Amino acid sequence: MAMRGLLRLGEVALRVLDMKAALEHYDKRMGLEVTLTGDDGRVYLKAWDEHDHHCLVLREADTPGLDHVAFKVSDDAVLDEMAVRVRDFGLPVKHIAAGAMPKSGRRIEFTLPSGQRMQLYAHKEQIGNHLPLLNPGVLPDEGVIRGFRINRLDHALLGGPNIDESARLFQEVFGFDMSERLIDADSKASLALFLSCSIKPHDIAFVLQPEPGRFHHVSFLLESTYDVIHAADMIGKYRIPVDVGPNRHGVTRGATIYFFDPSGNRNEVFSGGYVHYPDTPTLTWDTSELGKATFSQDNTPRESFLTVLT
Ligand SMILES: [Fe+2]
Repeated sequence: MAMRGLLRLGEVALRVLDMKAALEHYDKRMGLEVTLTGDDGRVYLKAWDEHDHHCLVLREADTPGLDHVAFKVSDDAVLDEMAVRVRDFGLPVKHIAAGAMPKSGRRIEFTLPSGQRMQLYAHKEQIGNHLPLLNPGVLPDEGVIRGFRINRLDHALLGGPNIDESARLFQEVFGFDMSERLIDADSKASLALFLSCSIKPHDIAFVLQPEPGRFHHVSFLLESTYDVIHAADMIGKYRIPVDVGPNRHGVTRGATIYFFDPSGNRNEVFSGGYVHYPDTPTLTWDTSELGKATFSQDNTPRESFLTVLT
């Protein structure tokens, strides 16, 4: 695919209540790799099969939740073009100089209609995935793939009001497709919207919530459905609080398990899902089949899944 524009969700920045406990979770249990601890105490982590320096940023704070999401764009020209288009959409755009954020080129930042801070960047230092670029092979050295065996950051689900407006920004300005949506069976109002800039069923999603800027979950890709079961075994062994799972989503068809970090931020690891092409029609679910849409193996919606956000 000749991809230009927004390439992927490249970074999620979370607030955690206790950094030591957070690293026990994200590094030791989930198996993400710490690549930098900043002078300000922020910790930067990556999954093994990512080339960029980090995909997760943790900051110790008094409340959990989301600092920002950041998408990587294909080049500097796109970054400049998006700065104009986001401003024309009606959102103030802040410019962040190269190097102001570790290992990162210049960025633009704006606040989504649903209340989250979002950034775009074209460059982040690439440190590799532990495999050589010439004759790379398929497996890094033993010990590199550990914990939940996470391949990479995949997507995030954000909560807030005005989700139709956030989706319109992603569709009209960033060129995403709406792959799926969940609507109220009676009013037809949007309750959850799933958007793709790739062949994945979603790269970002929004769920309707009264409070702006809320964080539902960050999701990481595993190699196989068996790896979801392996993660579930580790979650049980180390008594990590489970929200839902293992199960399979109706929306996106991913095999999934949801759990919480020690600060209450929801995490997901998943595998699978269908291939989304730009001409794939939008799939619609309504609340008459909320269980089937969310957790298709028992067709049962979970109260906590719909109401607990940070
Ligand atoms: Fe997810």
